[in-house]
Amino acid sequence: MTTILVTGGAGYIGSHACKALAAAGYRPVVYDNLVYGHEWAVRWGPLEMGDIADRVRLGTVFEQYRPEAVMHFAAYAYVGESVLDPLKYYMNNVLGSLSLLYTMRQFDVSKLVFSSTCATYGIPKKEQLDEVHPQQPINPYGCSKLMVEQILEDFGQAYGLRSVTLRYFNAAGADPEGEIGEVHEPETHLIPLALHAALGRRSQVTVYGDDYNTGDGTCIRDYIHVNDLVDAHVLALRALQAGEQSAAYNLGNGQGYSVNEVIETARRVSGKHIKVEVGPRRVGDPPVLVATAEKARLELGWRPRYNSIEDIIGSAWKWAQKYYQA
Ligand SMILES: NC(=O)c1ccc[n+]([C@@H]2O[C@H](COP(=O)([O-])OP(=O)(O)OC[C@H]3O[C@@H](n4cnc5c(N)ncnc54)[C@H](O)[C@@H]3O)[C@@H](O)[C@H]2O)c1
Repeated sequence: MTTILVTGGAGYIGSHACKALAAAGYRPVVYDNLVYGHEWAVRWGPLEMGDIADRVRLGTVFEQYRPEAVMHFAAYAYVGESVLDPLKYYMNNVLGSLSLLYTMRQFDVSKLVFSSTCATYGIPKKEQLDEVHPQQPINPYGCSKLMVEQILEDFGQAYGLRSVTLRYFNAAGADPEGEIGEVHEPETHLIPLALHAALGRRSQVTVYGDDYNTGDGTCIRDYIHVNDLVDAHVLALRALQAGEQSAAYNLGNGQGYSVNEVIETARRVSGKHIKVEVGPRRVGDPPVLVATAEKARLELGWRPRYNSIEDIIGSAWKWAQKYYQA
């Protein structure tokens, strides 16, 4: 059985990737320091505790498992925190990734699937973003991911590393079988925040600005189901195994929903009252962020299965009820 090292595999998207990898016949080995991840989320292969910055520990794990490829999810991902503490983000996201790449080279592992983000684009110059849109991130988090993308390009040229960079838009939803789901602490994502308000775990949800030049004045985002995201990872891995060259792909639904529409759908799906407070705009929040993911469809054969926001929020609601009301 082919072994894939999954850094950050105890986290939200990484754990769903492990389930998808196991279903596709791979053995996922999770490498995570559990700073944000959860031991209970590691169910489809071994958990090796460790930090990606720890090259000695990484080396031991590479030696033991001899992975064929790496899926690299481990990172810090709070945009606001990255503005306040950029050192933390560059250390973990850039230096940590370099340490991982160093070890991959040492053990001759030359295939990588990398979690990047639409935050590498910065302020959109058009409504739907494709992969050739200029990458001018406006916060250290986005910069840290773009730096790794650039490092991957250089490693490709110099050392023959082949990588697929996947730029996610807003990951959302949960495993439809209810085995795993999103548990971030602190939580900053709109859908879980709205559902936490529905469950009475918080008194309200804040809408950051309702005076944008959009239909209802609130920001518009592209929500992509976590299972669709991880399907793309398996396809990317297969492409690398088939000898395809490095590439970068957007992963989004291509359809935008406003903050108000998401909250309204959360009310409908949960059948609960959700109190809303309108706060000021957040610095650097573009009014609209929507992907075009044609390239992933054409080249990877990726077909997102969760096209309705009801289904996405429905799976998150099922998970939130199970996790918080058990
Ligand atoms: N959630 C989203 O909407 C979204 C959007 C775009 C990109 N991403 C990217 O996807 C990846 C996964 O995001 P997520 O939402 O699952 O986050 P998460 O916090 O749930 O998962 C990240 C995991 O990485 C682990 N980790 C962090 N630093 C580590 C280190 N130094 N060594 C070992 N393990 C470490 C954490 O413990 C956690 O388990 C991240 O790289 C993130 O930047 C996420």
